[in-house]
Amino acid sequence: MDSEDINALDRKSASVELARLAEQLAAANRAYYTEDAPRLSDADYDRLKRRNAEIEARFPDLKRPDSASETVGGPLADGFARVAHAQRMLSLENAFDPDDIQDFDTRVRRYLGLPETAPLAYTSEPKIDGLSLSLRFEAGHLVQASTRGDGTIGENVTTNARTIGDIPAHIAGAPDVMEVRGEVYMHHDDFAALNARQAAAGGKQFANPRNAAAGSLRQLDAEVTRARPLRFFAYAWGELSEPLATTQFDALAKLRTLGFSVNPHTRKADGPADLLAHYEEIAQQRATLGYDIDGMVYKVDDLAFQDRLGVRSTTPRWAIAHKFPAETAWTHLEAIDIQVGRTGALSPVARLTPVTVGGVVVSNATLHNEDYIAGRDANGAEIRGGRDIRIGDWVKLYRAGDVIPKISDIDLSRRPEDATRYVFPSICPRCGSDAIREPGDAVRRCTGGLICPAQAVEKLKHFVSRAAFDIEGLGAKQVEQFYDAGWIAEPADIFLLQDRYGSGAQQLKNREGWGAKSAEKLFAAIDTRRHIALDRLIFALGLRHVGEAAARLLAQNYGTWEAFAEAMDAAIEDGEARADLLSIDGVGEVLAASLTASLNQPAERASMDRLVAHLDIQPVATPENSDSPVAGKTVVFTGTLTQMTRAEAKARAESLGAKVAGSVSKKTDFLVAGEGAGSKATKAADLGVKVLDEDAWRALIEGA
Ligand code: IVH
Repeated sequence: MDSEDINALDRKSASVELARLAEQLAAANRAYYTEDAPRLSDADYDRLKRRNAEIEARFPDLKRPDSASETVGGPLADGFARVAHAQRMLSLENAFDPDDIQDFDTRVRRYLGLPETAPLAYTSEPKIDGLSLSLRFEAGHLVQASTRGDGTIGENVTTNARTIGDIPAHIAGAPDVMEVRGEVYMHHDDFAALNARQAAAGGKQFANPRNAAAGSLRQLDAEVTRARPLRFFAYAWGELSEPLATTQFDALAKLRTLGFSVNPHTRKADGPADLLAHYEEIAQQRATLGYDIDGMVYKVDDLAFQDRLGVRSTTPRWAIAHKFPAETAWTHLEAIDIQVGRTGALSPVARLTPVTVGGVVVSNATLHNEDYIAGRDANGAEIRGGRDIRIGDWVKLYRAGDVIPKISDIDLSRRPEDATRYVFPSICPRCGSDAIREPGDAVRRCTGGLICPAQAVEKLKHFVSRAAFDIEGLGAKQVEQFYDAGWIAEPADIFLLQDRYGSGAQQLKNREGWGAKSAEKLFAAIDTRRHIALDRLIFALGLRHVGEAAARLLAQNYGTWEAFAEAMDAAIEDGEARADLLSIDGVGEVLAASLTASLNQPAERASMDRLVAHLDIQPVATPENSDSPVAGKTVVFTGTLTQMTRAEAKARAESLGAKVAGSVSKKTDFLVAGEGAGSKATKAADLGVKVLDEDAWRALIEGA
């Protein structure tokens, strides 16, 4: 709908339409905020809101008291209490083809230092398509059940979990503390019957069994959960006061004897070929299993190996998910919209005629960048045989697991005759600044910085997101609305909300959707985040190339904000400081350039300084043993190690709180010199850095 059609509206139809929009938007808000079941895509929601605002702008006196332009968020659901997981709940690396599985085996062997000929067993388990749940038992009693959440903090759903038949409430013979993890899911026939009951009662329909399982578990009223046919398969564990077994396979068997359901298609395999054979076998049976699986999960069987392999930032090195091929569907490309992200990237999005792919209605797909639309990859080589994508085309969509749907093909025989090549904008559609493409960058970026409203809002959304400041009651929608109202323009403003809008004429509690209680709650939630860990702060800034892992690395290396900022300032000016930054293992040229460029940007830097003034920044907790002899020390490994691989040595040192650097400098505490150590050992000797051989290093960390 464009503005012309609004100009054609008369008062009567405008008033009718505003009433309809108020109702639709209120329903959408309720679904999103309270029922946790969005009915509209973000784009459709935004379209309705824009339409509403445009009509109101033309007929200001028709604006309704319940207008969505006055509403921030929906009624706040009390929700579930949050609980911290004693051990993080991990997710899995995905693989799609046999080569990925071969690579996985090679990587595991390399890490463990196992030759190709040495036996290495795996378990192969179906990947259940539900939602993961952690169950904590103490002295054999179920004391807590929690959802995965962000992996560190989940929701307490104990009362609901107790209603699931597959979950025992009491167990005899279990370790004193035992966390059992697995998947809550729903059988196909139970799902169909549930949807039929819902339809008869005029309730909502679930799109697929996974959504039905998630919606049923996350009910505020446990009696609703009890009435839903949920099931549970156990496949992993968290904290244990004593081990369940010495292999994955035996641990699952043990869980079965303790009374859990373990998937019956679990099998031991002796290598990639065997895993792939099992994959094919289960793929054949997939349609008749009676519940959804979206792939297979392969895990290193020996638990001592699992321990040595350890975890990366969110996934274990000892497991991989081998996904079944994506589902596909053909649909019509109606338009290409350009979204502007927090770092200014212009991302083209395909607006599609809605179509069901893999049980989910899809109306948007990513188009990546201008080369992708034009039919070229990052190196200029042809993709799709060089065919470009045009508005009006019929496109083939595919969707693998949860990933954003993508376009894999176009049907040239159905291309409209008047379809023209898409011309990618060279001006930011949101702020009008030039959008430029740096050499070597696949992406065109808006040069408007913080003056670009899209960048500013996206930065704020990132700032409040889960892994960043995670402010309860301040999500993406509220951020947008506070920004539109002119209440927050940058992160520091969030910490001034109460001073500015806690009392006086323009008060938060006077806005639709907010009462005195919810406003107080928000201010309190903001206050608790004035104390923030350094790694979260660095991640929250939303700097290019600085993800959670890089933020943690920087926080661990610098310890305080001041030290971090000073080091960046120094690295901007002087080569040696830049070399120090680059000596941090895991910091490469790209990250270093991004950090120095961002902190050297006067407007960005001033905005950071304003933010930091409101915060009490805590040094990041060193993982596990902060009292280990190497905690906080900087270690460099050189030469060939004989008792473990370099990767394992590095991971072990980091888990003991050490920082591992790539080159020796005066800040190095220990150089661990393996066989054939060369120039680094000489440099260490020159600088007076302590040099340890492999045995001395092992003795130092022994028992830690
Ligand atoms: S193991 C330490 N095993 O898949 C690894 N996960 O995409 C923990 N899932 O978050 C997961 N079946 O919710 C594991 N047999 C299985 C699984 C499984 C389903 C889910 C789980 C996980 C997700 C990762």
